[in-house]
Amino acid sequence: MRVLITGAFGQLGTSLSSILNKDYEVIRTGKIVPKNNLGITLDIQNPVMVKEVIKATKPDIIINLAAITNVDYCEKYPELSKEVNIGGLMNLCDSFSGRIIHLSTDYVFDGNDGPYSENDAASPLSVYGKTKLASERILLDNNPKHLVLRGNVLYDNEQNADASFLSWVLKSLTSNTKIKVVNDQINNPTWTRSMADIIELCISKKLDGVFHWGDSDHISRYEFAKIIAEKFSLDLSLIEPITTSELNQLALRPLHSGLKTQKIEEVLNVIPPTLDDCLNKIYNEKE
Ligand SMILES: NC(=O)c1ccc[n+]([C@@H]2O[C@H](COP(=O)([O-])OP(=O)(O)OC[C@H]3O[C@@H](n4cnc5c(N)ncnc54)[C@H](OP(=O)(O)O)[C@@H]3O)[C@@H](O)[C@H]2O)c1
Repeated sequence: MRVLITGAFGQLGTSLSSILNKDYEVIRTGKIVPKNNLGITLDIQNPVMVKEVIKATKPDIIINLAAITNVDYCEKYPELSKEVNIGGLMNLCDSFSGRIIHLSTDYVFDGNDGPYSENDAASPLSVYGKTKLASERILLDNNPKHLVLRGNVLYDNEQNADASFLSWVLKSLTSNTKIKVVNDQINNPTWTRSMADIIELCISKKLDGVFHWGDSDHISRYEFAKIIAEKFSLDLSLIEPITTSELNQLALRPLHSGLKTQKIEEVLNVIPPTLDDCLNKIYNEKE
């Protein structure tokens, strides 16, 4: 089976490619293919390019990870964000008749009363959340057999991943840099490998519709940072709590968010890993 991944050189794409490589023929595509990597250049914003790459590679399934994921950047450049996060997905739907797995986010919720299940009403606060929700609806209107998989706060110990909270905390504390971390944003941080394993199961079990996946601990970012510091024996006193409103970021964040995972647990017979298990594995792999 041939699996084409868009945004394959990002944080999740890196984990997912290495997991799927074992059992599938993986076609890694990216807006830019980094030096010393094998892959195909594919800007999902460009409909001609999308058509040509799909025609040339003939995938059986597409996993769409490509997106502008910087929430404040999306707020600043809403048109560009729509073109990539919504328009890019439309280009894939227009050129591909097979199944698409599309990654989405808990930012489709407002964070007033999380964690959320798949049946809860979405009400995004930010441009990023709005573009992701619109893309979900377009995908499932195009074909209800597609899959929307929502995740939240993905992390890995990947030095080049700008999107990884874990890497940021480790890099900062290792270089004795003080960090301010919000203590009022709650969700269930999820290791990219945990998400990659679930995506693999979603492919083989042909899941469709909307599903949530997240690891088992629901905590604030501040608590998460402290747990990371403890696990990696770094200086906890460098971490200072701050509220979201004090940070004064461009885009609003859902505060009490996170994702309930009962639906996927029942359908796939899986249990989300604990944060402690994931950090232990990451720590041991580092040694
Ligand atoms: N990170 C999280 O906490 C989180 C949580 C829930 C859901 N998600 C979703 O999971 C997916 C993967 O996220 P991630 O954490 O791996 O983020 P990421 O590291 O930012 O990866 C996204 C990738 O998409 C690429 N991209 C951007 N514009 C593109 C375009 N026009 N054409 C092709 N590729 C393009 C980016 O390339 P450049 O870097 O070169 O721009 C990047 O490699 C996204 O759909 C995101 O919305 C992420």
